[in-house]
Amino acid sequence: MTAVTADSQEAYEAVFNAAVAADERIEPRDWMPEAYRATLIRQIAQHAHSEIIGMQPEANWITRAPSLRRKAILMAKVQDEAGHGLYLYSAAETLGVSRDELLDKLHSGRQKYSSIFNYPTLTWADVGAIGWLVDGAAITNQVPLCRCSYGPYARAMVRVCKEESFHQRQGYEALLALSKGTPAQHAMAQDAVDRWWWPSLMMFGPPDDESAHSAQSMAWKIKRHSNDELRQRFVDICVPQAESLGLTLPDPDLRWNEERGHYDFGAIDWSEFREVLKGNGPCNEQRITQRRRAHEEGAWVREAAAAYAAKHSDRKTGDETRETGEATA
Ligand SMILES: [Fe+2]
Ligand SMILES: [Fe+2]
Repeated sequence: MTAVTADSQEAYEAVFNAAVAADERIEPRDWMPEAYRATLIRQIAQHAHSEIIGMQPEANWITRAPSLRRKAILMAKVQDEAGHGLYLYSAAETLGVSRDELLDKLHSGRQKYSSIFNYPTLTWADVGAIGWLVDGAAITNQVPLCRCSYGPYARAMVRVCKEESFHQRQGYEALLALSKGTPAQHAMAQDAVDRWWWPSLMMFGPPDDESAHSAQSMAWKIKRHSNDELRQRFVDICVPQAESLGLTLPDPDLRWNEERGHYDFGAIDWSEFREVLKGNGPCNEQRITQRRRAHEEGAWVREAAAAYAAKHSDRKTGDETRETGEATA
């Protein structure tokens, strides 16, 4: 490896900055600042962890889905989330970390996942509310990531977003069925929305002036819009959808602001967000315990896959030797 002198470091940096400024993609073999690499690893890992931990609250309802149709849809959705985790771990691996390393950090609490998944799913309506609000917030966050400066992350997001919009619609449709059902079903849908609304708004992260990584991520074009911009966009989308659903959003301060051309909304309880982030949410302990158990119980699958891959590559090497042998005979 050639030594990188201060001059060549500057030249590399100039090429990188020019590529970012020109909206070109940075690819795994391109030179990138170490802080850019570290930021992406942290963000993509946290995203991947959220996808797989996010399987738990909804999987809780697979065995109790109210019909075969709902069960099939929910199973497909939860499987999609596993797939999202895999695309994202693969995207992170292009930055020089291994999936094992990232999972180890998740299991030991050194890397986080989205706080939203530390809330419980108390009724079937929660599956609808998660699809509509949590997947809806995820789409709002992730559509701009399709234009993120890091190629593998941006490309993974294109497919993830297509699947997320299916998730959002299935949640909306499940809630609509409940909302138009019996008074008890309507009340169940309303209760779920009342519990998931505020945590969904927190998914966009702290307000812009308190967001530690935002400015640098925007300069690197990893992030395209600020937390508050995306949160506002989400509120503006949800208000008319809630009206069509025949449900109310639990915020007395929610009203159209003609001047701003946006909905005003009430203050978010950031102390709750910080508590959940610290590990004191209703389900933090349960989620991570279940994740560790699933990982341990899956050890035999990983071993079998590795043994199969080794056998396969031995056989391939054997074939090549034989071919070479024939050619020289
Ligand atoms: Fe997902
Ligand atoms: Fe999803």
